[in-house]
Amino acid sequence: MATDPDDDYGRTFANVYDDWYSLDFDDGAAAVEVLARYGRDGDALELGVGTGRIAIPLAARGISVHGVDISPDMLRRLRAKPGAELVGTELADMSDCDLGRRFALVYSVFNSLFCVPDQQRQTACFAVAACHLAGPAGRFVVDHQIPDAVNSGSCVRHVHTGPDRLRFSLVHCDPVSQIMERQTVVVENGGITRYRSVIRYVWPSEMDLMATAAGLTLEDRWPGWQGGTVRPDTQRCISVYRPDTQGTP
Ligand SMILES: C[S@@+](CC[C@H](N)C(=O)[O-])C[C@H]1O[C@@H](n2cnc3c(N)ncnc32)[C@H](O)[C@@H]1O
Repeated sequence: MATDPDDDYGRTFANVYDDWYSLDFDDGAAAVEVLARYGRDGDALELGVGTGRIAIPLAARGISVHGVDISPDMLRRLRAKPGAELVGTELADMSDCDLGRRFALVYSVFNSLFCVPDQQRQTACFAVAACHLAGPAGRFVVDHQIPDAVNSGSCVRHVHTGPDRLRFSLVHCDPVSQIMERQTVVVENGGITRYRSVIRYVWPSEMDLMATAAGLTLEDRWPGWQGGTVRPDTQRCISVYRPDTQGTP
């Protein structure tokens, strides 16, 4: 598993992940609040749990949280953190796994779905989520960015400037394949380090189709964890899916 080509993300970012992305980053604390409401009647499963940035505080709210990740390096980081004992982890591919149990809440946040490299396997993630839901009351929550570089093709995005560190990203989008390549450049202590990631972004409408194929239907959609209405200039999309009991024969 350590040489799995799908683990590029973990191998590239595990060492810097918690430094770059704290719980405060990208409204993580608000995500925990919302997910805690959906998970309160049972266990929760995170697809692409990473270092437990969301899963550990969610488990600290009294919810039994399990997490699947393809990266041994990310899971090692998770297990080394205080509170990790509250989170069950599984080294597995979220597009092809069966934990043999059901959850009130399955969720995938902070673009984890985009890390799965192709449409077929992203669709399979919805099937995995659906088959882990505990009946009609179960919910699948997906959180992702809507890439703003799509129209421009390429862009440079400033990420962080500190007293001794500068971080920015060069982003290139291919709107046909929906592949986005990002080179993050860190200038620190007079040295330069480059981190490359490749993701496949998914449009909300495409995601709804993936959900339909898995027997799920859209229940709610917001531009942020505080709720609200998704508009054409929305930069983020949080979708809540429920089992489509009407469509079930
Ligand atoms: C952007 S990180 C998000 C981590 C975490 N959800 C958070 O909010 O901090 C994406 C995670 O998805 C994992 N991942 C990528 N492809 C995966 C797959 N096919 N199956 C399971 N996990 C995967 C990566 O290893 C990484 O930990």
